[in-house]
Amino acid sequence: MKNPKNILISGASSGIGRALAIAYSDADTNLFLCGRNLEKLLETKSLCEHLKANVYCEILDICDESAVKNYIEKIEKNFALDLVIANAGISAGTAGGPESFAQIKKIFSTNLNGVLNLISPAIDKMKIRKKGQLAMISSLAGFRGLPSSPAYSGSKAAVRVYGEALRGNLAPLGIEVSVICPGYIKTPMTDVNEFPMPFLMSVEKCATIIKRDLGKNKSRIAFPFPLYFVVWLSALLSTKITDPIFARLPGKKAL
Ligand SMILES: NC(=O)c1ccc[n+]([C@@H]2O[C@H](COP(=O)([O-])OP(=O)(O)OC[C@H]3O[C@@H](n4cnc5c(N)ncnc54)[C@H](OP(=O)(O)O)[C@@H]3O)[C@@H](O)[C@H]2O)c1
Repeated sequence: MKNPKNILISGASSGIGRALAIAYSDADTNLFLCGRNLEKLLETKSLCEHLKANVYCEILDICDESAVKNYIEKIEKNFALDLVIANAGISAGTAGGPESFAQIKKIFSTNLNGVLNLISPAIDKMKIRKKGQLAMISSLAGFRGLPSSPAYSGSKAAVRVYGEALRGNLAPLGIEVSVICPGYIKTPMTDVNEFPMPFLMSVEKCATIIKRDLGKNKSRIAFPFPLYFVVWLSALLSTKITDPIFARLPGKKAL
């Protein structure tokens, strides 16, 4: 969608969510920003207000289904959301051994259920007016299961495939759906990684690409291209070839 006016971004207190809030900021824009950390949300608010955006912040745990539904209801009493960006997410890996069940549940609850909690009530509103756009943040880690982060890659694969299916399903209702698959982006999420991150990209460039391609209603927004090509190819190749390679990848720390 070109020039969305009313935009909701989850996980706007940090990283990609904050950069997107800044990228969309202008005097015509109403930004609805949510996250759990008030202090950091207010930092984002101040950066966006400096660029003349109207900003409304909400403390929200994206895993709380009824709180998220109530949040959408509250916004929609006065505003019609044009664009909802389901960005909030967490990551953790298997450095030091297999993932605990607690970590697996937390990652799926945030990265998958959190996305569904947000977009489902938004769809209910958008389908009435036959207009709106949903952007779901997946990852290049969602193309091929990574032994270094099974729950993370599984949760992002689910978001990617669900979003791709949803796009065709909602198109007749006038709702646009895009799935976003970034590679390594420099944010607090990756700042803790103790291994080399190929083609690491600045968060500002990431936000520029996402905004540009959402404006074109692109189905899949995957970048940077060299890493996208590698993961795309690895998903096509026999696991006899890829398993030994992926088994050697360094793991991110557990939660
Ligand atoms: N950075 C990368 O290289 C990269 C690559 C591919 C995909 N991604 C995805 O991009 C998204 C943003 O990541 P990032 O790199 O910007 O990470 P980040 O800087 O750690 O930001 C994550 C955001 O998610 C929010 N969040 C986490 N759990 C939440 C919850 N339960 N309820 C509400 N908000 C929650 C955090 O807000 P609070 O702490 O305030 O709640 C924070 O604003 C994630 O979905 C991530 O998986 C990142």
